[in-house]
Amino acid sequence: MSSSSGSQIFHEATDITWHASQVTRAHREKLLDQRGALLWLTGLSGSGKSTVAFRVEHALIERGCVAYVLDGDNVRHGLNSNLGFSADDRAENIRRIGEVGKLFVDAGLITLSSFVSPYRADRDQVRALLAEDQFFEIYVNTPLEICEQRDPKGLYKRARAGEIPNFTGISDPYEEPQAPELELKTDTVTIDEAARQVICLLEQHGKINPAK
Ligand code: ADX
Repeated sequence: MSSSSGSQIFHEATDITWHASQVTRAHREKLLDQRGALLWLTGLSGSGKSTVAFRVEHALIERGCVAYVLDGDNVRHGLNSNLGFSADDRAENIRRIGEVGKLFVDAGLITLSSFVSPYRADRDQVRALLAEDQFFEIYVNTPLEICEQRDPKGLYKRARAGEIPNFTGISDPYEEPQAPELELKTDTVTIDEAARQVICLLEQHGKINPAK
């Protein structure tokens, strides 16, 4: 078993050796005609992260690119089903997704992750796992009042009633990104426009070919 405490990771397996593949990321990227990237969407619950991420994924697949969304709620049904919402568990949640995202990028995929990821240090650790042109932090900046009005899962209401402890924005902090590669304000732009901006970012960085 591996364990973590905050940002500190303990390596418990010792007699292990890295086995190199004969296939490089460059081979895979050539085959796919795209370049791997991790688009890290962060923001409050209800800010629109997953809606934007799935819209971008669909648009990319439609134009022949291989994309995949790692979604917080979904991943917590499986891989991370043993984690809750304490600061330590959130750190481990983000660490695992950072590592999975790194593997997906190595596979050449355009990977979108949609996690509240409220702590700057956790997000910065993921950034540090990847090369500079592989990690893009996207701040889905929707005011708390709007997220609370939307309340798609009824969680804010329950958090206000004291039924959900450590709820981000209510009884737990959210640390805003200081220099995100992109900021999306879903209260002022449509989901299609937000998705267009994400796809533009990929084009600008040569991750996908410009639309024909
Ligand atoms: S993170 O903080 O560890 O990145 P993650 O994105 O995986 O969170 O999960 C957040 C989702 O779990 C929210 O969209 C919401 O549906 C649900 N959730 C349940 N409890 C909480 C909580 N205490 N804080 C935030 N989100 C919660």
